[in-house]
Amino acid sequence: MVIAVDGPTASGKGTIARALARHYGLPHLDTGLLYRAVGHQCAKVGGNPDDPDDALAATTFADALLENPDLRSEETGGLASRVSVHPAVRQALFERQRAFATQAGGAVLDGRDIGTVIAPEAVAKLFVTASVKARAERRFLEMQARGAPVTLDEIEADLAARDERDRSRAAAPLVAAPDAAVLDNSDLCAEASIAAAIALVEARRAR
Ligand code: DC
Repeated sequence: MVIAVDGPTASGKGTIARALARHYGLPHLDTGLLYRAVGHQCAKVGGNPDDPDDALAATTFADALLENPDLRSEETGGLASRVSVHPAVRQALFERQRAFATQAGGAVLDGRDIGTVIAPEAVAKLFVTASVKARAERRFLEMQARGAPVTLDEIEADLAARDERDRSRAAAPLVAAPDAAVLDNSDLCAEASIAAAIALVEARRAR
């Protein structure tokens, strides 16, 4: 069984994907991490993330980079969003994601284009979303806990800019697959959101 979990930044899709993987005993891939690694690598060697050749060169990052906690930062998220607009970068990361999605026994993948491009055949597709305000508040609490010096307004502006870039790019834009179940968790706590996600997957499996 393949489960595709897509949605914007800080929507809780990662938490939901991890919980679904645990619930069904499936391996999980956070595909955003691959784009974050490319963005990080590109910046590290002095490349321009908006330049398709510089960004493509960074797709040969070493796997050990995926363990680097710096990848989780807002700054790297912004770089990831910029390198991810280039079709050649998306193509270079395709096989790795596709192989993960088609492994025997199934998998859970989360990202932006799992239900539309990487695994259009997925049994269950969730599009997890929440208002910019709800997402900014969650991200703010997370950042505060880590001691990062950011304000709620800065985070809200950054999320809105990333949403806009992810939605408006020509290659695999952030959009719900026509057959995805939309889960808006603006008013749900993590536990309720996970329970709703499991119920939606169960409904899809029963079809
Ligand atoms: O989910 P995230 O915040 O870690 O993703 C970081 C960026 O990577 C996001 O702004 C857009 C890009 N991305 C993508 O284009 N396609 C994916 N499947 C996952 C992430």
